[in-house]
This record gives sequence, structure tokens and C-alpha cells, in this order.
Amino acid sequence: MGKAIARRLVKGGHDVNIGSRDAARAAACAQEIGAAGGGENAAVAAGQEVVIVAVPHASQAATLAEIRDRVGSAVVVDTTVPLVPPKVMRVQLPAEGSAAMQARAALNPDTRLVTAFHNVAAHRLDHADDVIECDVLCFSDDVEGRNLVVGLCGDMGLRGLSGGALANSAAAEALTSILIYMNKTYGADGAGIRFTGLVSAPPIP
Ligand SMILES: NC(=O)c1ccc[n+]([C@@H]2O[C@H](COP(=O)([O-])OP(=O)(O)OC[C@H]3O[C@@H](n4cnc5c(N)ncnc54)[C@H](OP(=O)(O)O)[C@@H]3O)[C@@H](O)[C@H]2O)c1
Repeated sequence: MGKAIARRLVKGGHDVNIGSRDAARAAACAQEIGAAGGGENAAVAAGQEVVIVAVPHASQAATLAEIRDRVGSAVVVDTTVPLVPPKVMRVQLPAEGSAAMQARAALNPDTRLVTAFHNVAAHRLDHADDVIECDVLCFSDDVEGRNLVVGLCGDMGLRGLSGGALANSAAAEALTSILIYMNKTYGADGAGIRFTGLVSAPPIP
């Protein structure tokens, strides 16, 4: 997911650095997609305007702890969906309510946290020229940060929409299990969601 997002941001003209647990892996990824550079997560997280975290739910807490004191005033975008293998087609949100709430607790209180990209299939996103029939819901209590991520979605050829407060992230996180169920039940290769009737929303790309 991280590489797919980065690939589209590079194509959209953004200056992107790749983070990994392994600096060599990050550098190879950066070279593959034409990003500016790469390095270990904590090093790359410092000095950025936006930091996007795309790791499995099981590693969310450890990864956020690693970057917590490095991100400064950056907008941190968390893509985590709290799937519980093997039953990934069943909604199983954590006791805190959502991965977003877990991220909120894991980061410093003044960190600008946005969650997004829960409902987009990474393998579809990774084809940077493909039209993705899926709205990207963005959640945050920081309105400016949320709007920034909605704008980045536009730069990536996606329609980003504000989904409101961070607490609302639970709905999109839960929807992912339903989309995985839809893939299996209706033979979809990455089912998505599209909102209708939105008069003043960004145009569908
Ligand atoms: N895949 C999708 O279609 C999709 C769609 C919507 C949302 N999401 C969410 O986006 C997040 C990333 O999904 P993904 O499919 O990209 O996951 P992934 O391929 O399993 O993992 C992404 C990266 O996380 C790092 N990672 C793996 N295990 C780790 C660990 N134990 N500790 C720290 N870092 C670790 C790895 O990077 P390094 O080895 O380079 O460190 C790995 O390449 C997940 O929370 C997922 O629920 C995924």
C-alpha cells in the first residue's frame, strides 16, 4: 500500500521519501518508483510535511512509537485497517473503537493525525494509470490536515472526501471487511465505494 501511494504521489509531482525497517529496501523502492530517496522509518519521518504510515495492524503500535517523536508538525496519515486474520471478511474492530483511536493514543497528543485509504485495493492503486472507482474517505479532528489529504488524493487521481471526525474512521475501517467479502462473493478484483449526490464534492477523476 505504501509503495502504491508513493508511486501515485511521485507521478503527481510530489517530493517523496520512502521509509522501511531496512534502509536498503527503502532505497531500492525509491529507485523503482522514482522517489527522491529512502531510509529507515524513524530517519525518514523527520522533517516532512506529511508522513504516511502503511503497515499491518499488528505492527501499527511499534511503528508509530518509532516515529512518534520524529514527526514534529507533520500531518501523519495512517492507513491501518484492523483486520483479524484469518477472518478478514468479518468486522472485528478493536476495543478502543478503531485503529484510528489506537493511533491517536500511540502518537503525541498534538500530532496532526489523519486516517485514509482504508477502502482502496493496493494492487489497483499500484497501477498508477488505472482509474480507481473508489472514493477515499479522510478522517481527522484537524480540519486543515484532513483537507490537505483530500487534496493529495486528487493529485493521485483519486476522489478524496472528508468523512469527518477521527472517530468516524471506524466506519471506513469496518467497510473494508465488507469489501473483501464482496470481492469473494461477487468476483470483484478490488471492490470500492462511491458516494452519490454530493453537490460540492471534488469531481470524480
Ligand atoms: N493491501 C490493501 O489492499 C490495503 C487496502 C486498504 C488498507 N490497507 C491497510 O494498509 C496497511 C498496509 O497494508 P499492506 O497490504 O501494504 O501491508 P503489508 O504489505 O503486509 O506491509 C506493508 C509494509 O509494512 C512493513 N511491515 C511489515 N511487517 C512489519 C512489522 N512487523 N513491523 C514493522 N513494519 C512491518 C513492511 O515494510 P518494510 O519491510 O519495508 O519495513 C511491509 O512492506 C495495513 O494496515 C492494511 O490494513 C491495505
